[in-house]
Amino acid sequence: MSRVAVVTGGSRGIGAAISKALKAQGCKVAAIYAGNDAAAAAFKAETGINVYKCDVTSAETCAATLKAIEAELGAVDILVNNAGITRDAMFHKMTLQQWQEVLNTNLNSLFNMTSPVWGGMRDRGFGRIICISSINGQKGQMGQANYAAAKAGEIGFVKSLAQEGAAKGITVNAICPGYIGTDMVKAVPEKVMNERILPLIPVGRVGEPEEIARCVAFLAADDAGFITGSTLSANGGQYMA
Ligand code: CAA
Repeated sequence: MSRVAVVTGGSRGIGAAISKALKAQGCKVAAIYAGNDAAAAAFKAETGINVYKCDVTSAETCAATLKAIEAELGAVDILVNNAGITRDAMFHKMTLQQWQEVLNTNLNSLFNMTSPVWGGMRDRGFGRIICISSINGQKGQMGQANYAAAKAGEIGFVKSLAQEGAAKGITVNAICPGYIGTDMVKAVPEKVMNERILPLIPVGRVGEPEEIARCVAFLAADDAGFITGSTLSANGGQYMA
């Protein structure tokens, strides 16, 4: 059976790798992107995966986009909440805007995207919700009070929803990537990366987006029904929760 999967932030970085992995697993995939039209068009041309422009901070836009996806591809079976941003600053320099942008995009988006598909998953007795949290939601990170708060909140969301979905065939899980070689991590100052972060990763390198996509494909599978409420770490040994 061909499952319908939606991936937010699905045309770049970790999300692009997830979209491709789910397609390779036989899913019909919808990749949601925020604003980079050129990257989304290139991704669609390369992969044949449908892309949808949608601001995940807007509940109305998410509901409308999910309705359009369901009309085109069918009911959503798998939702990957992957979209995320950073606005790193030491807390004494952090602005309200930096705080709100990160909380809106990384945490409030979970409600906006999950709520419209939750009822249908309950009715059909099947669903897979996978949230891409972060190592920094587990351990905290200087310069990331906003991001770590959102990512830790994501884990609480997952554990609660997992309990609600369990009797309805819906699994809800979090993946906590460590530092992965994407534009987000490339934005970390080189000196900080080389002196403060890389030495703490026992595997000795940053991860690849495909190494996170592999975790998603595993949790999204039909035969992963006994795994729910879990937090899967993929961080090169940097933090062992
Ligand atoms: N780990 C350990 N130490 C760090 C650090 C980190 N991630 N980031 C900064 N520091 C240290 C710096 O080395 C510096 O120490 P010294 O004064 O001893 O040299 C001190 O904190 C202050 O840093 P800066 O001089 O850079 O201060 P700044 O005000 O110019 O910038 C900052 C602060 C914006 C936080 C900048 O350092 C930065 O961007 N750091 C990276 C923060 C980070 O790790 N972000 C993760 C992004 S990737 C991601 O979020 C994906 C994911 O899920 C893992």
